[in-house]
Parts: sequence; structure tokens; C-alpha cells
Amino acid sequence: MSGIIISPSILFFYFANLEKEIRLVENAGADWLHVDVMDGHFVPNITIGVPVVKSIKKIASIPLDVHLMIENPEKYIKPFADAGADILTFHFEAVDDVIKVIKLIKSFGVKAGMSIKPKTNPEEILEYLEYLDLILVMTVEPGFGGQSFMPDCADKLTLIKKYAADSLIIQVDGGINAETARICTGLGANSLVAGNYIYNSNDVGKAIQSLRG
Ligand code: DX5
Ligand code: ZN
Repeated sequence: MSGIIISPSILFFYFANLEKEIRLVENAGADWLHVDVMDGHFVPNITIGVPVVKSIKKIASIPLDVHLMIENPEKYIKPFADAGADILTFHFEAVDDVIKVIKLIKSFGVKAGMSIKPKTNPEEILEYLEYLDLILVMTVEPGFGGQSFMPDCADKLTLIKKYAADSLIIQVDGGINAETARICTGLGANSLVAGNYIYNSNDVGKAIQSLRG
């Protein structure tokens, strides 16, 4: 393994066949499963919630990387932690007290991640990096899979990398393919989320491998 954590988004799964879909990406070399939770308020789309995470946890043998694109994430940290999330990533734009939410996540023994939307200035979040296990830089507007990568967002990685401890996981999400993956890892990302690129390839294993560079 190259040291890059590949986290396929389950947004493209055929949910009637959840177990088969999970085995497919696990056998293809995925490191984590990226679970996109959307509430129709913070983002204009609705996906899945706690019961589905609970079911996935029973089947999956790799960590669940849960991306909360929801308002008031603090209300749902415990339910998602109890459901088996290994990493819980909330949005900076959705909370008032960042440190409080990070502490709450960690109190359940779960890794704490925070994400920033394309319009958020990375300067605003530097002070929180030392408290986080993961920072997620969105490279599309959150809400939908299959959108085009925004290079300006990836440029934020340079500043974040400069201030990040070696142990911080720097993740990118949105429009990631073999080419954009290389841009992001070159700028310091060490975890890549990918949906469309992986599921619409003919060979999921090869697609995952190609992201490792
Ligand atoms: C977008 C989600 C992403 C998305 C990635 O709001 O957070 O995880 O599923 O899909 P692609 O790789 O197709 O952009
Ligand atoms: Zn995501």
C-alpha cells in the first residue's frame, strides 16, 4: 500500500444489494467505506441515515468513514457513533462550537473529522487542525456525486499541509479520478474519496489502484 487511504463513496451503490457492493470494493482494495449522509437542508439532497450505517457495520470489514452533510451534526454524533462509525466528519459551516463537536465525537472513541465547502477560506480552520484526526477538503459543492473537480479547492491543501501535524489525515472529496488524485496527493492529501470514477469504471480494482498513483 502506498500510504494513501482510498475511501470509495457508497453513494453509487445499488442499495438492494448492499452486502455484494461492500464486498466488491473491499475485495478491490478499498481501505475505508465513505458513507455520505445528506439531510436535504445542509445540502439539497437526501441520502441515508443511522439504520443503514448500522447495517453496513454488520457486514463491512473495513472502517466506516461517515461524512455528515447535515445541519446540527452535534445532535446526531451519538446515534452515528453507536451505529458503528469509525470516523465522523462534520461540516465546519454547520456548527457554532467546533471544539465542542470534536470533543463529543472523540468521547465515543471515534476519530473526529471536519470538512470545508468550496467557498470556505482555509485560514478559518487552521486553529482547529491540532484537535482533529482528519480534515476533509471538498473539491465540489457537497450534495451530489459525479460533479467536476474544482482545482481552486485543491489549492487549499498547500496551506493546510503546512500547518498540519504528520498524523493528520488530509482527505479530498469530489471529482476525484486518477488525474485529479495526483494533483491532490502532490499537494499533501493522503486520503481520497471517489464515487463516480470507481463505480463507472470497468474494473473497480484497477480504478482503486490507479488512484494510488
Ligand atoms: C458529494 C459527496 C461525495 C461524492 C463523491 O457531496 O460528499 O462523497 O459521493 O462522488 P464523486 O467522486 O463522483 O465526485
Ligand atoms: Zn463525501
